[in-house]
Amino acid sequence: MIIIPGPASRELGGSIAGELGVDAHPVEHRVFPDGESYLRLTAPVEGETAVIVQTTSPPQDTRLMQLFMMTGTAADLGAEKVICVVPYLAYTRQDKRFLEGETLSLDIIVNLLEEAGADDLIVIDAHSADSLQRVQRRHRIGVENLSAVPLLAEHLKELGYGGAYSLAPDMGAVHLAELGGEVLGGDFGFFEKRRSRGTGEIEMTVRELDIRGRDAAVFDDIISSGGTMARAVAGLKAQGARQVAAACTHALFVGDAERRIREAGADLILATDTVATKFSQVSVARLIAERLRSIVP
Ligand code: R5P
Repeated sequence: MIIIPGPASRELGGSIAGELGVDAHPVEHRVFPDGESYLRLTAPVEGETAVIVQTTSPPQDTRLMQLFMMTGTAADLGAEKVICVVPYLAYTRQDKRFLEGETLSLDIIVNLLEEAGADDLIVIDAHSADSLQRVQRRHRIGVENLSAVPLLAEHLKELGYGGAYSLAPDMGAVHLAELGGEVLGGDFGFFEKRRSRGTGEIEMTVRELDIRGRDAAVFDDIISSGGTMARAVAGLKAQGARQVAAACTHALFVGDAERRIREAGADLILATDTVATKFSQVSVARLIAERLRSIVP
């Protein structure tokens, strides 16, 4: 197995290789004056299983293009199998056509990866596991969606959040709260979240919870602008929650997301290293390495 960290995941790719006890072979990467990427694989892949590790957090489009280039090159150079590990897969929130003519970006990306020569795609906490499965049924590529929430919850437990109430900011993410609850040992639930048809603004209804004086942890797949998480944290604090942890797998933290969440009253912000930030206290390297080990013994 040849581990090939892409330009966006040099560190995580190196950690995955470390967990597997093999060398990492990062691609050589330069940027041409006009902004195009130059990439070169630095290890022979003919007859090998090539594992390309590339997250696709902003700048998404550049990183996706690099992913397609590395995948296509590994296939072209005769890799027996190409596995794309994309810890954060961008565009997974654009998975349904609400208005005539809208693009289904998730389908297009999976299609392009398959066309480039990927045999398997491993992602962590994709926005909608159902959409990913639906897309997978239309393609030959194998798609796996692993969850880092148990790891986040373990970390929170070590920090004293054992028994905390686990919450998801909307019903679509309730499985994350359930996973968190299994580790923390408290109740789990979700908020009602609706996007207003007129303004596009998010409306969040906070049901009465048995939370007064108790700790809570909110689990979400992504923190982007921080609006969703801030609303959830504020709702819990308003109901008398004691400590509230804001935990996510993918910390995009666009604009003043951190300030919004802190001002809402979060006592702790926690994320994984699918997107490397100062909040990335939990690594997904072992989770990915274990999965790779079971696919490629
Ligand atoms: C949406 O359903 C996702 O699970 C996240 O809750 C959302 O994308 C977070 O975005 P933001 O941080 O901008 O509210």
